[in-house]
Amino acid sequence: MDISYFNGQYLPHDDIKISPDDRGFLFADGVYEVVRWYGGFFFDMEGHINRLKRSINETGMIWDGVDQLTEVAETLIHHNELGDCCALIYIEVTRGAAKRKHSFPDPAVEPTVYAFVSRFGMDTLAWERGITTSLMPDIRWSRCDIKSISLLPNVLAYQQALDNGNKEVIFHRDGIITEASHSNVFFVRDGSLYTHPESNYILSGITRKNILELAASNNINIVEEAVTTDMLPYMHEAFLANTSGEITPVVKINGNDVGDGNVGEMTRSIQRLFREMVGKR
Ligand code: PDD
Repeated sequence: MDISYFNGQYLPHDDIKISPDDRGFLFADGVYEVVRWYGGFFFDMEGHINRLKRSINETGMIWDGVDQLTEVAETLIHHNELGDCCALIYIEVTRGAAKRKHSFPDPAVEPTVYAFVSRFGMDTLAWERGITTSLMPDIRWSRCDIKSISLLPNVLAYQQALDNGNKEVIFHRDGIITEASHSNVFFVRDGSLYTHPESNYILSGITRKNILELAASNNINIVEEAVTTDMLPYMHEAFLANTSGEITPVVKINGNDVGDGNVGEMTRSIQRLFREMVGKR
């Protein structure tokens, strides 16, 4: 039986009942994190905890329990007997349950805190061969730096990409490439690594941050500048980065080959460096 966490208790997953008045349910008024368990350690838990604190702060929620979530995550891994496996932990914090009203509950109510773990297997075929992607206008809001549970534009665009036979959608704002529906995007040209700088138009990915650190310590030139759609024909390689997929090569964007249409050397090197890093711990 799966055990999940809900407001201070570890419960059988199916016994968890969330209030119909929860602001996460009514307004998507909440934030979340997804953390990877590598059969023995959480990947950059500190980075995830710091980003969650930031999301909570930026949305004006008040909750000082974030630091306890590492212990919650460890307990969930233990209760679900996932110690030796690869798993993902999902953590959500909403502004809590209160009578529906757009303004924040006054006085404030306890936030709703929910977490579950799931066993996770890598899509090694995607790593090996790369994936094809769609290019679509970025119809999201202008606070994409907050890891908000309000993901309808991401869901709609991602589904459209799948319906078109692709595996992800790459977003652009008026021709400026931002990120993907649930990953950051990197490009390679002439041995340099390009990615959108941190801003309100992208989520500052934990995988992105670790890739940039790896690249810097391996003397790879990093250019934190946005690539435009006009520049795509001149890019030699592209890849996506996120917690679940790590580094996934992109071989086509909107039907056009990226570079020569094969997974490139730099992408393979970054994949190898990342694998070495998670293997070492
Ligand atoms: N998504 N950009 C967006 C919009 C994302 O939703 C994500 C992560 C990322 C990459 O962030 P990180 O490297 O910290 O995983 C970038 C998670 C995996 C999800 O929603 O499931």
